[in-house]
Amino acid sequence: MAEELKVHLIDHPLIQHKLTLMRRKETGTKDFRELLEEIAMLMTYEIARDFPLEDVEIETPVAKCHGKKLSGKKIGVVPILRAGLGMLNGVVNMIPAARVGHIGLYRDPETLKPVEYYCKLPNDVAERTLLVVDPMLATGGSAAAALDLLKQHGAKNIILMCLVSAPEGIRVVNKEHPDVPLYVAAIDERLNDKGYIVPGLGDAGDRIFGTV
Ligand code: PRP
Ligand code: URA
Repeated sequence: MAEELKVHLIDHPLIQHKLTLMRRKETGTKDFRELLEEIAMLMTYEIARDFPLEDVEIETPVAKCHGKKLSGKKIGVVPILRAGLGMLNGVVNMIPAARVGHIGLYRDPETLKPVEYYCKLPNDVAERTLLVVDPMLATGGSAAAALDLLKQHGAKNIILMCLVSAPEGIRVVNKEHPDVPLYVAAIDERLNDKGYIVPGLGDAGDRIFGTV
């Protein structure tokens, strides 16, 4: 029987078009950064479809009427440094009141295991829905470590949003954090022997920040 990956694929035509531009090796830092921010905005818009609403009575200049407003838990956004920073503005453009936490992790190039170097979170993470953002879900080690850390700090409602994923990383998140809904814009073929996503888009952090 075919294996079932638990993942929401957000494959809106605009997102697919912009992602193809990002993948091209000729695409420079400025365009890469802008496209990532735009896609993060579009993905947030799609994810917010499931956000709960409540009725509210308002008065327009003409008459009283019923409207809707977002209800439920307040939102926090948590980019995984560095590359997750490239998605932050896109999310905050859609959810301007969101609090922002930061988790610093880098992947050891030899072991491919995540190494934590920074963590600063809003003090009420237990009362918020946290949207964790990172463009790349490769082995899944960094995402799983970030989710562990957030849960250690009391987080209960977490959503993970990644741009490009590999089946290996999806499996790790599904297994270690079955309670965390995962949204991605692409599921690529596999990882190569250096743990890079194939075809992927290369090193996201380096392409966002113009480092090598
Ligand atoms: C990249 C990416 C993820 C991680 C994914 O970060 O942004 O955080 O790798 O790989 P994994 O799923 O195998 O853990 P990187 O470690 O290159 O750090 P950077 O964002 O600072 O460039
Ligand atoms: N991190 C990246 O930036 N790219 C990959 O393909 C894998 C991990």
